[in-house]
Amino acid sequence: MSNGSETGGLTENKQSIRGNWGSRMGFILAATGSAIGLGNIWKFPYITGVYGGAAFVLVYLVCVVIVGLPLMMAELIIGRRSKKNPVGAFKALHKPRSPWQATGWLGVASGFVILSFYSVVAGWAMAYIFKSLAGFSGTGQQIQSQFGTLVAHPSASIMWHTIFMVLCIGIVIGGVQRGIERWSKILMPTLFAILLALMAYGVFYTHGGPRALEFLFKPDFSKLSAEAVLSALGHAFFTLSLGMGAMLTYGSYMRRDESITRDAITVSALDTIIALIAGVAIYSLVFNFDMDPAAGPGLIFQTLPVLFAKTGPWVSVPFFILLTFAALTSGISLLEVVVAYFIDERGWSRKKTTLILGTAIYLFGLLSAIASLTIPFRGRDQGFFDVFDFISTNYMLPVGGFLTCLFAAWVMKESDRVAEFGSRGPLYKGLIFVLRYVTPVAVFIVLLHGLELLPFMDY
Ligand code: PHE
Repeated sequence: MSNGSETGGLTENKQSIRGNWGSRMGFILAATGSAIGLGNIWKFPYITGVYGGAAFVLVYLVCVVIVGLPLMMAELIIGRRSKKNPVGAFKALHKPRSPWQATGWLGVASGFVILSFYSVVAGWAMAYIFKSLAGFSGTGQQIQSQFGTLVAHPSASIMWHTIFMVLCIGIVIGGVQRGIERWSKILMPTLFAILLALMAYGVFYTHGGPRALEFLFKPDFSKLSAEAVLSALGHAFFTLSLGMGAMLTYGSYMRRDESITRDAITVSALDTIIALIAGVAIYSLVFNFDMDPAAGPGLIFQTLPVLFAKTGPWVSVPFFILLTFAALTSGISLLEVVVAYFIDERGWSRKKTTLILGTAIYLFGLLSAIASLTIPFRGRDQGFFDVFDFISTNYMLPVGGFLTCLFAAWVMKESDRVAEFGSRGPLYKGLIFVLRYVTPVAVFIVLLHGLELLPFMDY
């Protein structure tokens, strides 16, 4: 990238050609854009329903604080210190042929795999904008079966997957400031506004508000299973975009004069608040119409449309636009991790990298978009979508998060950490303690669970 505005004036520094955020707000919006995605609006509400509500929510909140926040700070510290992509970062902060660069490789691979199927779900969200415009009608069963039809029709899924990937590529080609930051500044405030309006609708215009609040905030610990605790932990870092270098990469474009602690708290808090607001909005509707909160992954695409048939398109259209925007700002962060690697390490231009890698991810994603393609996995024939989702969420992200945490806590130079954290005070000591002894243990447990190796669980 040759334009001066992206260099922030640091022309003597080779890193400057990588670009940086134009303002603190730009970073906050891009990072929250990455964090807030299908994880918040699709996954969080449905897993909360499956695991019984408030007790699960409480455990998830604890996980965000003890696992998510420290790991996010670790990624930002590594990213901003090295000013590199995930692979280059571990080399720069350790040594040129460091084995820790494997952590970065894993991150780049995770970005590639996750985006390939994430784009398919995002495509469904876009398809539902148009289905909403046309209006949902018919019996509950008929409305619910529309989703099956969409998924089973490769041509429709492929078309929407194509459109979503083209949007991601178009934005990432624009670069850090003129692509990602500019679009985050437009998409994120719109998303906040739509979500607040939907929540107000749920709480004030339906009768489901009080029950939704009770379901999400009045814990009944008898409903809490070991499985729920582990899922809460796993979800905490998927939703915060941790374990694959997305925050590391965004941190590498961050200015030196910003507080990593303050920014990490802001991003985690916004991500959590948005998930909770989405939960309130969705459950107000679900309870208003006496639907089942434990509907599972189909909650958004099958249960909600039945309710939208009663509320009309002016609730459903904004809802699916919201879902699409949320997915888009996460999709660009996934692509950026892969792109940053090829720009930094291979010296490719941003345009060339984005086009080539974006296309490769798109082609790989066709496997997930075609539901009829299956492979034997864990004892039965499964679609690629489920296989990639399972492998990345349960194996790749936890391993990446675990290694990143160990690197930041045990391998990285004390002076490097302190330089980015800004002090050696009690807060710093607390962070290092948590990163050394608390977070890795917690992540290790999730990992064993992902591998179905926990002794006290029934697999
Ligand atoms: N955090 C995103 C979500 O909640 C998903 C994501 C994971 C994005 C990892 C980037 C990296 O949907």
